[in-house]
Amino acid sequence: MSRIEAARAILAANDRGGYTVPTDRLYPFQWNWDSAFVAMGWVTFDAERAWREIERLLEGQWQDGLVPQIVFHAPSDDYFPGPDIWGVTHKPPTSGIPQPPVLATAVRFVLERHGAAGVERARAIYPRLVLNHLWWQRARDPEATGLAATLHPWETGMDNSPAWDAALERVPTKTRTEIRRRDTGHIDPAFRPRGIEYQRFVHLVDLFRETGWNARRMLDISPFKVADVGTNAILLRAERDLLALAEQFGSTAERAAISERIARKEIVLAGLWDDALGHYLSRDLIGGNLIPVRTSAGFLPIFAGLHERARELAARLEGWRARNIALVPSTDPDAASFEPQRYWRGPVWAVVNWMIARGLREAGEEATAASVSADTRRLVGEAGFSEYFNPMDRAGIGGETFSWTAAIDLLLGEGEGR
Ligand code: DGY
Repeated sequence: MSRIEAARAILAANDRGGYTVPTDRLYPFQWNWDSAFVAMGWVTFDAERAWREIERLLEGQWQDGLVPQIVFHAPSDDYFPGPDIWGVTHKPPTSGIPQPPVLATAVRFVLERHGAAGVERARAIYPRLVLNHLWWQRARDPEATGLAATLHPWETGMDNSPAWDAALERVPTKTRTEIRRRDTGHIDPAFRPRGIEYQRFVHLVDLFRETGWNARRMLDISPFKVADVGTNAILLRAERDLLALAEQFGSTAERAAISERIARKEIVLAGLWDDALGHYLSRDLIGGNLIPVRTSAGFLPIFAGLHERARELAARLEGWRARNIALVPSTDPDAASFEPQRYWRGPVWAVVNWMIARGLREAGEEATAASVSADTRRLVGEAGFSEYFNPMDRAGIGGETFSWTAAIDLLLGEGEGR
């Protein structure tokens, strides 16, 4: 089987009827940002299936516009916390929090690949994207500062990043829900978040559930509140892609509102730059400080279209590469908190690489963009379609036959994002 056939076969094997699970057993439902990347992978060989992926994700969208992190289309005992613990009334059941909003970017991408044949599908989806972006503003930035708040590490997709360590200290470890982890039954616990982190993750779920998933209340009472540089960069990129879709499908008023949000976000995202660390950082919205940990999320403002620091950030990546560290480690390998095999504390993730490479290429940093893409291809070529990779010894870790890794490999194989 060729490499392309192998990647396609993974998507086909993880297809559960119009939606793709990230991998069998470890993640048995539909995840939000996974599906956005996976749709971009599907469109390389099956545009109809790419649209279905997005439409099935939107079956989980709430009336207020939230596109939840997980849609529980079919029951499974393989994952904790399941729908009963989230206690959400939506049908199909969902979790109650968002994930990085890659969706508008994916819709634009799928439409551009599919061409005229995709226009009616995109036209039907477009209002749902508008509603979702309004949710981000209303629920997470009601004062229109331009920076969206994140209330749970799971929302960032980078659950146990060292960037959250200090802010998580404010979250009590006591839970009402009994913690019955399933992930560590599937995967070596050394590669997964620690027990104390799960206690805090579940404490937050308990707290939010008790508000009845009231967005305003959650924002007011959450003991964890950060402006994640990754989420905010992805959201700015998504706003630009939504604007491009609005040129085709939207009204003048919609285009004006999106443009206004873009202008504000460009300014505040640039304000997350820290001269001392020479990196974009997340902000702790309770303490008020920038969080002094360099992570791979700090490269994503380039993907958002902020190009003024691209040279400096590309030089950091080249420095790591010269030391034979595979790009892009999720945490700065020189940080005390770096752990090369523990989930988001060090490993390389193909989807983050794809966004960074695309941003670098658009910023004119072609050589470094090519390095990031080449490293990603090499990791997958040598270690397989793993969930993530150790940047030091290049081993594949976490789940195997992973959908988003296969999707990104299909894109990079075609030169997309190079
Ligand atoms: C998990 O359960 O590990 C996921 O990252 C949550 O989205």
